[in-house]
Amino acid sequence: MDTVVIAVANQKGGVGKTTIAMNMAAGLARRGSCIVVDSDPQGSATLWTKLSGSPSRFPVEVILAEDKLNKQIARLQTEFDYIVIDCPPEIKSGSIMSVMSLSQVLLVPLLPSPMDLWASTRIEELIKRVQKKNPKILAFILLNQIEPRSAMSRGMDGALQEINIPVLRHRLGRRASYRTAALEGCSVFDLGYRGRVASEEIDGVIDEVLGS
Ligand SMILES: Nc1ncnc2c1ncn2[C@@H]1O[C@H](COP(=O)(O)OP(=O)(O)OP(=O)(O)O)[C@@H](O)[C@H]1O
Ligand SMILES: [Mg+2]
Repeated sequence: MDTVVIAVANQKGGVGKTTIAMNMAAGLARRGSCIVVDSDPQGSATLWTKLSGSPSRFPVEVILAEDKLNKQIARLQTEFDYIVIDCPPEIKSGSIMSVMSLSQVLLVPLLPSPMDLWASTRIEELIKRVQKKNPKILAFILLNQIEPRSAMSRGMDGALQEINIPVLRHRLGRRASYRTAALEGCSVFDLGYRGRVASEEIDGVIDEVLGS
């Protein structure tokens, strides 16, 4: 099987990039070998694995991005089935753009808020830029922190039709378990019954992404 490289990116801060990258990686690690590359100078993914002390409870190794990210990813592709890259909120560095040339999937988390929707034109620009470098990359919006009873969450569907990026059918709810996993330095898969619904959501996203 060819390695699947999944980059999680959005110029907007706080949309759930790290939460999604970490929990996707934990879910993917149950299907094959997986590693997370932390390319955000904030180092949130790296910190996450340190929260539970040593040894870490987090089921996947997280390594820092090297200056020559392209070469690093090429090396990791010989060792792992899945590589998940947690990107920083600013996508201006050449190395991040170049890593997209090696990625098969670009996941763009989006929150159901007016500000995030207004920023979505920038997401389209980002994806167009990426697709110029890598026409084969599959880019998807992943709706995050959806609240079933909120009018805004419901209103997203109409608003999203105006954006030219496929939206994954599976979406993530706003759930305490995602925050608990981060606080406990593990993934939602390690929370037992407390993380059951979130784990099912993440597995659904993985199935949809890998099946596309
Ligand atoms: N589905 C969810 N349900 C509940 N809380 C969530 C969910 N997704 C993310 N969060 C919380 O939202 C906050 C921001 O998430 P996260 O740090 O993953 O975003 P980010 O896009 O990586 O941020 P940054 O741009 O700073 O890197 C965190 O406190 C996280 O625990
Ligand atoms: Mg982050």
